[in-house]
Amino acid sequence: MTSGIRFDGVTVTYGSNTVLDHLDLTVEPGEVMALLGPSGSGKTTALRAVAGFVRPASGRVLIGDRDVTALPPYKRGIGMVVQQYALFPHLKVEANVAFGLKAQKVPKGEIPGRVAEALEMTGMAAYAQRYPRELSGGQQQRVAIARALAIRPNVLLLDEPLSALDAQLRSGMLAELARLHRELPDVSILYVTHDQVEALTLADRIAVMDKARLQDCGTPQDLYRRPRTEFTASFVGNANLLPVTVGEKGATFEGVTLDVPIAEAASGTTATLCVRPHLVGLGPGPNALSGRITEVQWRGSTHRLYVEVGGHRVKADVRELRETPPLGGEVTLHFAREDAVLLAAGVTDG
Ligand SMILES: Nc1ncnc2c1ncn2[C@@H]1O[C@H](COP(=O)(O)OP(=O)(O)OP(=O)(O)O)[C@@H](O)[C@H]1O
Ligand SMILES: [Mg+2]
Repeated sequence: MTSGIRFDGVTVTYGSNTVLDHLDLTVEPGEVMALLGPSGSGKTTALRAVAGFVRPASGRVLIGDRDVTALPPYKRGIGMVVQQYALFPHLKVEANVAFGLKAQKVPKGEIPGRVAEALEMTGMAAYAQRYPRELSGGQQQRVAIARALAIRPNVLLLDEPLSALDAQLRSGMLAELARLHRELPDVSILYVTHDQVEALTLADRIAVMDKARLQDCGTPQDLYRRPRTEFTASFVGNANLLPVTVGEKGATFEGVTLDVPIAEAASGTTATLCVRPHLVGLGPGPNALSGRITEVQWRGSTHRLYVEVGGHRVKADVRELRETPPLGGEVTLHFAREDAVLLAAGVTDG
């Protein structure tokens, strides 16, 4: 059986509301695709369309080369972990994990072995006889994942699987999900999150959603280093977005001519320059900008400086400073030509 997921012009509407607008997206066999976007952008809806819980108004959903648009959920061979991982409270861990196997009419004799295998993979073998209420949040989450894996799906749908966990547990589970995927290299994973760290860490590619539409799609490195839109730039990582006017060789910001790549942007046009805060240095250097410090945040290993340059606030994340610079003080910031990306005006979301 082939895996992989394809959205082919999938549109989902509720009444007169279009909540997924003509989605075209392919998840390759064995690929982890993160769906990243703000609340309400249509991420869960996209997942539900793959699982079969919502029927598209138009378009097709394919799993492998099979059009599943009209198939009921249980015939799609999909493992799914929903946003509020719902374990059955009255069933022990073992029975929770066996649930999908029974629904699929797996022969009775095979079920215990398959349950044990799934619990083993998620490190929950010792908890088979417990009830969900006797488990921590992270352990419940593992059981939910074991339940999804037990049916040996070709496609695994994960909807914010870590959102209920605290930061430390979350980073542990992230590493485990990465390991699980190495153990199941043929399974295609669609992973919904609004956490960019999860998307950057786990995904082979990230699909950025906003307002029911796919805004951008690429490898984490692509989207981070070469964002194409302001929305992507600010949603995948932090960004300074500076309004500039393109000149012959560079761009002008607040009267300062900057040496930045302008590609084919026409002279005289306005554009937005994206510079990541951690690539902004303190002190003189190329592309120097002077301004007044309006805020300083100590973040442990770094200091975040907010500097007012003309009417704009520029963020700089610098290695922890020995002495905190005074508010209102004048400073100079700089950045290298190759660390700036020019975003043409008009390619923002909308
Ligand atoms: N059953 C429904 N009936 C009507 N509107 C719905 C229904 N389900 C979702 N919506 C709407 O569709 C839009 C997209 O919802 P969706 O759940 O896909 O967002 P999301 O990106 O998953 O957001 P979140 O990050 O908050 O989970 C929202 O505006 C939501 O209110
Ligand atoms: Mg959601």
